[in-house]
Amino acid sequence: MKMRTLGRHGPRVSAIGLGMGSATTNFGENDGEVQVATLRRALDLGVNFLDSSDAYQKGRHEQLVAQAIAGRRETVVVVSKFGNFDLPGGKKGYNGRPDYVPQACEKSLRQLGVDCIDLYYLHRIDPDVPVEDTWGAMARLVEQGKVRWLGLCEAGADTLRRANAVHPVTALQTEYSLWERHVEREILPACRELGIGFVPYSPLGRGLLTGRVRSLDDIAPNDRRRIHPRFHAGNIERNLELLAPLERIAARLGATTAQVALAWLLAQGEDIVPIPGTKQQKYLEQNVAAIELALTAGDIAELSDAFRPGVGAGERYPAGYFRTLGG
Ligand SMILES: NC(=O)c1ccc[n+]([C@@H]2O[C@H](COP(=O)([O-])OP(=O)(O)OC[C@H]3O[C@@H](n4cnc5c(N)ncnc54)[C@H](OP(=O)(O)O)[C@@H]3O)[C@@H](O)[C@H]2O)c1
Repeated sequence: MKMRTLGRHGPRVSAIGLGMGSATTNFGENDGEVQVATLRRALDLGVNFLDSSDAYQKGRHEQLVAQAIAGRRETVVVVSKFGNFDLPGGKKGYNGRPDYVPQACEKSLRQLGVDCIDLYYLHRIDPDVPVEDTWGAMARLVEQGKVRWLGLCEAGADTLRRANAVHPVTALQTEYSLWERHVEREILPACRELGIGFVPYSPLGRGLLTGRVRSLDDIAPNDRRRIHPRFHAGNIERNLELLAPLERIAARLGATTAQVALAWLLAQGEDIVPIPGTKQQKYLEQNVAAIELALTAGDIAELSDAFRPGVGAGERYPAGYFRTLGG
């Protein structure tokens, strides 16, 4: 397995991790046995970076990770997140209050069945709490040995600097894919300047780049992707038209479009560790194989040009979600 180091002094992780949160919480099936089997298969393949959060399946995903890593804890970089909630009516809630931080951590430690979380992320920045306050409380968890490294999700460059001044930020987890390249302007350069590793989430555009979602009819009525403007009628058709060069390159290489999309991300720098989401072992295996897929400089340039920033139709989140994204 090819490994990468997260951040200047962070953990050594497989070049591709495994995310399962969205594809079990927000879309698709959430059979526990299937998830545990796929998590274990990931470990067998040398994938040691299993993404989780106390928000995924309302904490159940952490319990499934606990089952999957039982007896193999030392080989895994245990990851979780806190501070992001789904409220009734499709609304979101956030909690970055310093008194809440140790409570959330204790719960995750219990659910994960470990005495230390390797990488602990603030899942969303609480707009009502200065990041220094949340981050200071998280730094105390490191002092207490309950957490080893700290990460942020969806932080802007200024927030990264403010948090990093309190305690080193090891990783930033934010959406990044051929579809969604906003981080290239300010956020990725700030990570590089500060020595922060970058973990692209939704690296397959929530499935769009796999070619499996061809229309809204391909996703269930309760699938959360329906609220994402990129999937709305009128946008999804235009977004799928953009896949043509990806499909051409994939066909020439005998690969899938998902593999080419992941290879493009991996080629953006040694500091990038994507976490494609799947519950299915066959997709996990294909995604891991993408690590060995060699794109030429010409392929990379063609894809970068075809998917230039802003070319996709529709925003990546519904309008109300942007208050806590990139700030
Ligand atoms: N920090 C955050 O705020 C945040 C937000 C979103 C996501 N995340 C993390 O990032 C992870 C990945 O993001 P995501 O799940 O939203 O989007 P994604 O990885 O871009 O796409 C996942 C979708 O692609 C499908 N898929 C995966 N590999 C495939 C392959 N090789 N061929 C065909 N289809 C494939 C999955 O299918 P199946 O459903 O059939 O398995 C799933 O429907 C999440 O699970 C979560 O851990 C974090």
